[in-house]
Amino acid sequence: MSTPAETLIRQIIADSPRQWVSFAQVMELALYHPEHGYYGRSPRRIGRGGDFFTAVSVGPLYGRLLAQVAQETWETLGRPADFTLIEQGAHDGQLAADIWQGLQNHPLGAVARYAIVEPRSAYREVQQQRLRPLMGDRVEWTEDLLRPAHALLLCNELLDAFPVHRLRWDGQAWEELGVVVDAEGGLAFAPQPITGDDLAEDAGLLPTDLPTGYTTEVHPAATRWLRALAATTFKGGLLMADYGYERAEYYAPERSEGTLRRYHQHRMDGEVLSDLGLCDLTAHINFTQVIEEAGRGGFALQRFMEQGRFLTHAAKPWLASLEGKPPGAETMALLRQFQTLTHPGHMGAAFRMLLMRR
Ligand SMILES: C[S@@+](CC[C@H](N)C(=O)[O-])C[C@H]1O[C@@H](n2cnc3c(N)ncnc32)[C@H](O)[C@@H]1O
Repeated sequence: MSTPAETLIRQIIADSPRQWVSFAQVMELALYHPEHGYYGRSPRRIGRGGDFFTAVSVGPLYGRLLAQVAQETWETLGRPADFTLIEQGAHDGQLAADIWQGLQNHPLGAVARYAIVEPRSAYREVQQQRLRPLMGDRVEWTEDLLRPAHALLLCNELLDAFPVHRLRWDGQAWEELGVVVDAEGGLAFAPQPITGDDLAEDAGLLPTDLPTGYTTEVHPAATRWLRALAATTFKGGLLMADYGYERAEYYAPERSEGTLRRYHQHRMDGEVLSDLGLCDLTAHINFTQVIEEAGRGGFALQRFMEQGRFLTHAAKPWLASLEGKPPGAETMALLRQFQTLTHPGHMGAAFRMLLMRR
């Protein structure tokens, strides 16, 4: 049985001149079609009752630690009177609420504003219901990156949700793996020569001493987003948390099937053409691409490391404040969250965090 998203994709393939669509187009529709996409209608549950966990779903400690990073960024700028935390990929507003709560323990809490980059009205409504009572008129929504004077732009697991193109090395050249309808009427991968300057540019950065059939992904949507970021003028920072690799690690010969995955009810597999619209689809991000593109926009690398180490650094003032005091129930709960976020066996090693400043 086809899902509604699969029926739409079959139609697009039938109407296309080559009877073929790029995987990026499939991923875009399967995730963001307003009615039939996984992220289409309104924010789905993340965490225990959803399909996957994120650092946000672990509990409020994560937001509190990011508030500490925001405070430090504001201080390095000399504590300007205007400072905006800009979040993109804010989902149901939970991280914004946690950060805002955390900011109330810092001087930045008295001046900070919050802006959410959210293209979809259904998401905005959910975010507004949660955040207006908390932040009043110090929160705003926008479709584009704002251009405030001072800001920290933060994205938790945003870029891994951007549509990717799938490429395969045929022994001589890179070709694009797109999607066709096969003889049995199912969706299947099939190659076409690479077209378009942005794909050719990304393919040009890939190694070629790889086994025939090596399959991976490239991220032109991330490049476009990073170039828009580079064109902004605010002073401040970029804070990104996600799973991903540096370029050499990403395109290592042994990673011969790439990183494209599907998530459903806490199960993960590579069946990325099945149950489209009902499952999350995701690919690791290329942190080298992020660092290089943001660098062109004047952002300098401050810290890039495993989430465990990054958050342990951010938690130092909080951990020091606990010394010598018997922990109450709330502190014990936060310490358990700290363990989940930082322990290499939980989320500490799989996720990485990047802080750049301008
Ligand atoms: C993996 S979820 C992460 C949600 C949340 N940040 C967290 O960590 O729990 C990815 C989110 O990014 C959002 N997203 C994807 N593309 C976006 C875009 N261009 N602008 C704003 N949000 C976007 C999706 O709707 C989804 O809510």
